[in-house]
Amino acid sequence: MKTPTTAEGRTASDASTGYSNSASADLGAARTVLSLMRSIEDIGRDRARGGYSRPVYGSAELELRSWFLEAAAQRDLDVETDRNGIMWAWWYAPGKQRRDAVVTGSHLDSVPGGGAYDGPLGVASSLAAIDVLRDRGFVPSRPIVVAVFPEEEGSRFGVACLGSRLLTGAISPERALALRDGEGVTFAQALTTQGGRGDRIGADRDMLARIGIFLELHVEQGRGLIDLGAPVGVASSILGHGRWRLSAHGQGNHAGTTLMAGRQDAMVAAARTVVAVREIALEHSGARATVGRLQPIPGGTNVIASRVDFWLDVRHAEDAVTAVIVEKIHAEARRLAAEEGCTMELVEESVSGTVHFDATLGLELSVATGGSPMLPTGAGHDAGVLASEVPTAMLFVRNPTGISHSPEELCEDDDARLGTVALADALAHHAG
Ligand code: GLV
Ligand code: MN
Ligand code: MN
Repeated sequence: MKTPTTAEGRTASDASTGYSNSASADLGAARTVLSLMRSIEDIGRDRARGGYSRPVYGSAELELRSWFLEAAAQRDLDVETDRNGIMWAWWYAPGKQRRDAVVTGSHLDSVPGGGAYDGPLGVASSLAAIDVLRDRGFVPSRPIVVAVFPEEEGSRFGVACLGSRLLTGAISPERALALRDGEGVTFAQALTTQGGRGDRIGADRDMLARIGIFLELHVEQGRGLIDLGAPVGVASSILGHGRWRLSAHGQGNHAGTTLMAGRQDAMVAAARTVVAVREIALEHSGARATVGRLQPIPGGTNVIASRVDFWLDVRHAEDAVTAVIVEKIHAEARRLAAEEGCTMELVEESVSGTVHFDATLGLELSVATGGSPMLPTGAGHDAGVLASEVPTAMLFVRNPTGISHSPEELCEDDDARLGTVALADALAHHAG
């Protein structure tokens, strides 16, 4: 394990820990990342799927939002919730100006049955990084802000990074308000229930103008850092990705009275398409294509489905290749549906092009965090949306299982503390 970078002149060594005194003090102060994570470990547990289910504005995510407000208040941070539901906790620089902010943070919502760290680690480490900086006696010359973005996963309303997309104008308020969750509740209704106002959401140039830089810490969601043998890394890029809804339409009918010949079974059309998705993805080096969610209508054991909705996630470094893959899938899905006497439609739900983070900033972050390696990721993040508006960078913390969006996602305590100190170093570098 490498020693985190420390401020100049603090190099005396501490034989008991193997770290310099200052680094040892930083790691001590960074312990709050562990207590913060432990304090939320029972919120939103999913007893059926395992892991956590914390859909945006559901009871678990709301409890986490309250937890965040309390943790921010304990640190004397001044929290504002903007009109898009993003929470911003300000640590003012002397002079109390809300501009040129060094913003960090992540999200608190999860995928269904997700891990404990995807999102919350970024929020907890941001709060703990402030503890580290205060323990150092650091006084920021630019404000440091911890942000919490709603609906990063898009697991409730279907569009990932909905909060940051609204903030930047990457999605129109009209489209966002009309999004529906699995129960038919619109985003507009969910927002109103939380005291938000549909007529106030949307691009917020004033808020964006106050962000000088955005740094998101996230648990790594693959094996990159395991293979590099490093606890902390810096993101170089985010793979382009998108979501499409496919709907197979057939003839609903009785499972017992309908002969096998001549059926128009929407489930068969969908199932054959799922297999084709994998085959088409394999034709394109580096492509990933997934169907992880499928909803038969009406959904009875003894009923031939009249319709099946299923969702496609496609990712590739070249956006043009992603488009080709989706078109091939659509064409093959239509052909397979026709063979079954069905029809197939495809609707785009969201697309995000490949993001290459600012190389200079990335390099600077790598140096500021003691020479952390740079690595790409296949996972989407609010940082990817914000990158088109403000200088943005990401830190990754090793995940020893290499598994994410699953209860098996993991982060070792020591790595969480090292990541927190690396984030503190990065914040100090920019806000000092
Ligand atoms: C979010 O984690 C995504 O990559 O879809
Ligand atoms: Mn995430
Ligand atoms: Mn995720």
